[in-house]
Amino acid sequence: MELTSEERGLLAGNEGRAARKCMQILVALGEIYGAESLVEVSSVQVSGVSYKNLGDAGIEFLSELAEDGRARVRSTLNPAGMSLTDWRAQGIPQGFAEKQLEVIDAYRRLGLEISCTCTPYLAGNEPSFGQHIAWSESSAVVYANSVLGAKTNREGGPSALASSLTGRTPLYGYHLDENRLPTLTINVEADLKSPEDFSAMGYFVGKTVKDGVPYFRGIRSAGVEELKTLSAALASSGGVTMFHMEGITPEAGVGPARSQAVSLTQAILAETTAALSDVGAPDFVSVGCPHCSLTELATIAELLRGRRVTREFWVCCSGEVKRRSDEAGYSAAIERSGAKFATDTCMVVAPIEDLGHKVVATNSAKACHYLRNSGLRVRFLPLEECVLEATR
Ligand code: F3S
Repeated sequence: MELTSEERGLLAGNEGRAARKCMQILVALGEIYGAESLVEVSSVQVSGVSYKNLGDAGIEFLSELAEDGRARVRSTLNPAGMSLTDWRAQGIPQGFAEKQLEVIDAYRRLGLEISCTCTPYLAGNEPSFGQHIAWSESSAVVYANSVLGAKTNREGGPSALASSLTGRTPLYGYHLDENRLPTLTINVEADLKSPEDFSAMGYFVGKTVKDGVPYFRGIRSAGVEELKTLSAALASSGGVTMFHMEGITPEAGVGPARSQAVSLTQAILAETTAALSDVGAPDFVSVGCPHCSLTELATIAELLRGRRVTREFWVCCSGEVKRRSDEAGYSAAIERSGAKFATDTCMVVAPIEDLGHKVVATNSAKACHYLRNSGLRVRFLPLEECVLEATR
């Protein structure tokens, strides 16, 4: 791979051991995927923040890098395993909390922003069309490529961190225009009435297209809430990194004629929705996967008006969106009902199975997918029904 003199210096250790290790990771990755060079990135988003996923080996890796490593570009973090301020109210065990705070401390020393969200684009980290970035939260990767028109591969936590500490990523995959073309057209015949319908559609299409690029045709309108939950579902049942949608994706329409087509019918949507639920009465309800937008918090505040929650109910969002919600008065309305904000974290990366919960109600197909993998039973319900379950 061709390196600039600055990159060769980083690789030689001129800028310290952490930068050298990170360059070694990126060069190895580039060679595996046949990249001819590295490319500078304007923003990084790092997953692998929850102690539940990292374990002690992860803390050791981060602490070592933090000895002399420092972020070179704006870098934000994915959700942690708990709220960094209200973890006691969430019932998080002291031992887990101490380890999680060690992880956060290492990232802070590395110079990453302790934003802890999977929707950085709703909290001030919104790349522009054509920018090369290195993001690793899969739902945010799909959103960034498909809605914002930025260019990123689906990075792992270590490779994204390596990009943070060097400001570079290998130039291959979705950084190259020829790999961003649609591979399968999805003719949407079903009537999509809610974000949950987009989530179920994404779950079906992810399974169908695997690591290809679906091109959605026939969708009348889609807002941020629909697009972020679609992105999350596509990346959970499949390995999708990017989609095209008429009227949404800046590059939409490039090359669709070459792709094959399948139809998303009402029957397929109904079948997918039904298959996402298990039996059982929920003892835990959580919404905000991906993290809630301000619009969603306004809706939740309205749905909770005059109600009291009767079981644990987490509303997951970033600290930044929560701050805006405080100003708008939505947070007070939500908390008055007894619902809890789960800022900095979510129902999947927090150790909720250790908190004694068995059946989780949520409005996210992605959350259903991963919670089942953790041995929990799930109910996939629209937002309104999640609130009804929580207050029943
Ligand atoms: Fe975000 Fe957690 Fe869902 S990281 S996309 S809320 S699984």
